[in-house]
Amino acid sequence: MTTAVCPGSFDPVTVGHVDIIKRAAKMFDRVIVAVLINMDKKPWFTIDERLEFLRKATEGIDNVEIVSFNGLLVDFAAANGADVIVRGLRAVSDFEYEFQMTLTNNKLNPEIETVFLTSSAENMYLSSSIVKQVGVMGGDVSPFVPHCVLDEIISRIKQRSKVL
Ligand code: PNS
Repeated sequence: MTTAVCPGSFDPVTVGHVDIIKRAAKMFDRVIVAVLINMDKKPWFTIDERLEFLRKATEGIDNVEIVSFNGLLVDFAAANGADVIVRGLRAVSDFEYEFQMTLTNNKLNPEIETVFLTSSAENMYLSSSIVKQVGVMGGDVSPFVPHCVLDEIISRIKQRSKVL
């Protein structure tokens, strides 16, 4: 059985993330979506919200689990029996950061391979930062986030923009 980890901050989940998770779920027996708790960049959404949005957005995909993690990704992967790390790759700008992470992870644990899935053409430009930036300025984020969590994401962004 091949287990893959899809790690990220998911602050918040986008339709681009869901696309990568769905495609990974077709390729691997078990997919663990691992949400980083303590990020350098202060998250807008709490860990519970980020987990909840992902759970709703991936409901019905039987081989996908949503969990949080702290510490080194390779340690989390090894402790959970994962052989593969899956990352979505968008435009060229992602490459340097992803390459650095992959080589670091490979040095830390050469047993765990990183696999990249190229973003779908329609999600090439999309990121959680874009969602927050558009949302806080009152723009329409409905094309960017899963429909089932749209209202919750909008309401949280509105609360946030009041305190900014
Ligand atoms: O969605 P993101 O913010 O690009 O995800 C980044 C993430 C969570 C994959 C990365 O920050 C990570 O793996 N953090 C855990 C700490 C770690 O293992 N660092 C060493 C590899 S650089």
